[in-house]
Amino acid sequence: MVTNRVWRVCCVCSAALLTISTIVLLFISLFAGRRCPGGAFQRAAVSADSLLCSQIGSKMLQQGGSAVDGAIAALLCTSVVNPHSMGLGGGSVITVKDKTGKVKVFNSRETVPQYVQTDLLKSCPTKFPFALGSKWIGVPGELRGYEAIHKQYGRLPWSKLFEPTITLAREGFPMPDFLGHLLSEPLLQHLVRSTSICEVLCHKNKTVLSKGEMLKFPKLAETMETIAKEGADAFYNGKIGLDLIQDIEAAGGTLNMEDLRSYKVRVDDAWAVPLGDAVMHVPPPPFGGALLAFILKLMEGFHLTPQSMDAEQKIKMYHRYIEAAKFANGQRRSVHDPAFSDEKSANHLIDPQFIDRIRGMISADGTHSSSYYNVTPSSDTVGTTHLSVLDQDGLVVSATSTINQIFGGGVYSPKTGVILNNELSDFCGRADTVRSGERPPSSMSPVILESKSGGILAIGGSGGSMITTAVALSIINHLWLGMNLRDAIEAPIVFVDAKNNVTFEREFDKSVIDGLSALGHNVVPRKYFFNVVNALEKENGCIVAVTDRRKMGESAGY
Ligand SMILES: *[C@@H]1O[C@H](CO)[C@@H](O)[C@H](O)[C@H]1NC(C)=O
Ligand SMILES: *[C@@H]1O[C@H](CO)[C@@H](O)[C@H](O)[C@H]1NC(C)=O
Repeated sequence: MVTNRVWRVCCVCSAALLTISTIVLLFISLFAGRRCPGGAFQRAAVSADSLLCSQIGSKMLQQGGSAVDGAIAALLCTSVVNPHSMGLGGGSVITVKDKTGKVKVFNSRETVPQYVQTDLLKSCPTKFPFALGSKWIGVPGELRGYEAIHKQYGRLPWSKLFEPTITLAREGFPMPDFLGHLLSEPLLQHLVRSTSICEVLCHKNKTVLSKGEMLKFPKLAETMETIAKEGADAFYNGKIGLDLIQDIEAAGGTLNMEDLRSYKVRVDDAWAVPLGDAVMHVPPPPFGGALLAFILKLMEGFHLTPQSMDAEQKIKMYHRYIEAAKFANGQRRSVHDPAFSDEKSANHLIDPQFIDRIRGMISADGTHSSSYYNVTPSSDTVGTTHLSVLDQDGLVVSATSTINQIFGGGVYSPKTGVILNNELSDFCGRADTVRSGERPPSSMSPVILESKSGGILAIGGSGGSMITTAVALSIINHLWLGMNLRDAIEAPIVFVDAKNNVTFEREFDKSVIDGLSALGHNVVPRKYFFNVVNALEKENGCIVAVTDRRKMGESAGY
């Protein structure tokens, strides 16, 4: 009898279990099988500068890695696919939003070395765009940055993140299209040929490699292998560091082992800035988040809508935007390493009262002389990479990394295969002195935007001084002007340079340019634009991952 009843209970139980699991399975298949429209991904995605690196990042996620694992693997890959943009000899800023909703900023920006040339800023470049040579090298923070975020959010073993890039660097790969395109420019061919980078980017006869030819980084492969095995300490406190310092010394630099040993990553809370019904998380100074937020808050008050793009309205809107960018130029000097200046020196940039006051100074029908915007002239810079990664568990990474200008300062370390940054030139025009340990101000601004409905937008850009306008316009286009994410990023930009001259990307609406000239803006031609924006957005369970065609990138995911 008893056994009978047990049997019956069991039967009921298993029937119930079966029903529940059927329902669960049905749900899973319903949701997993749900198609996201137009190439959107369902679970996770990586938007890096190149398809190859997006795929390497995405593969890490598929193998159980977190968004941080994917980001590190994709960054390492980018260091060989776009070696002119970033690498182990540089630094980065990585904004991470975890499951609890906390948003942290990992600051592994380069620092001023102990024995820096005291009158360094006297040799800031004025005419030629590049600051070349070893005196501009800052203490690289890149690997300490990876180490810190991996320790906190990584799921895969550290060494695994290096594997795909070690293979690429050792076995070689065909010259990527974008790099090939860059290296076909006479200016850059000259740069490569006249620096030690020629060792990896030239034939034996010193002609620069071109499209279709194989690119190899054998020394870097060895270096990465050691770091994969021994950790970042091999670079900061071991053999690789010693080799690197010897090479820098041979190139006339003053960086020493103590600089490397004492390098520390800084972790800060992101600034949370309300924007419409969203919250925008941006990195605090010395990064570009404050100026980006300042421009967006100024523009928010003009209540833009898709109609703002109608003929007459469009000139008015861009006029206001250009004025906002001029005021932002006037504020560039208030962004500094908080550890070396008034910690609150940039806080006014997101203060509603200050923003309202400045907005009131934007005239509807004209522009002003430079002093009106409190502008001190400074130089503009170029370079960098950005990537955004989102994983299945909701970890979001927005990472910008750089060796500063194209190929940094043109210093290559033959013993380690590392290309060194020229980050100290970022002080030019924005500071009067450099102090050892200080991090130079930067336009880099990896953003994470969170909407009230739970939508996520991870966005950021590269292109030095152009980052701010590239990211600001992409956000304005997408949030307020009704463009989808791809159109928002691809729309041609206006760039207000450090002298408040206004330049437009080639495809920019000619009639608007004429209208803006008539309002008094000093429109000048510009040959090169380096702005590149990568982003991904998750909304209603689908991830749209967009990479900028300007750098021929493509995203990957699943
Ligand atoms: C340099 O070497 C490469 C590869 O061997 C060759 O294709 C190229 O024609 C050479 N260029 C000159 C100017 O000799
Ligand atoms: C930009 O503006 C400055 C001052 O307004 C002017 O002297 C300079 O010639 C302009 N630069 C270019 C490239 O036109």
